[in-house]
Amino acid sequence: MIAIGCDHAGFPLKEALAAHLYARGISYTDLGCDGSPCDYPDIAEAVCKEVLNGNCTCGILLCGTGIGMSMAANKIKGIRAAVCSDAFSTKFTRLHNDTNILCLGARVIGSGLAMELVDIFLNTEFEGGRHQRRVDMIMALEEK
Ligand code: RB5
Repeated sequence: MIAIGCDHAGFPLKEALAAHLYARGISYTDLGCDGSPCDYPDIAEAVCKEVLNGNCTCGILLCGTGIGMSMAANKIKGIRAAVCSDAFSTKFTRLHNDTNILCLGARVIGSGLAMELVDIFLNTEFEGGRHQRRVDMIMALEEK
């Protein structure tokens, strides 16, 4: 199960994302918004909670730039969010950072590229090994 969410700027892209996931038989839970103006930190928190409580394996957050969502999500303990707009970064943030939240900017990239990045994100496994120690170091920063 994938948790998805957006603010008003990300809403059209979330519609495309929901259709994309449905077409591929990937289950998702939609944490809003419904297209009306809203505050992206609320949606980021709702999606991240679904990942942290184990209901969802990962989350996808959409706003105008992807940046506000990523900043909000990365404030939440246990979350590793990355805003991506290219295939290479999307692949390597899974391989090396074990990213659990993908953030996309609906005003930055088109839906075709966005869906390509979603597929890369969902189909790339964390490499572990030397990267595990570095991810552990990132998470230890939450305790400082
Ligand atoms: C909303 O206008 C916009 O600020 C938001 O979608 C996002 O881009 C923030 O980072």
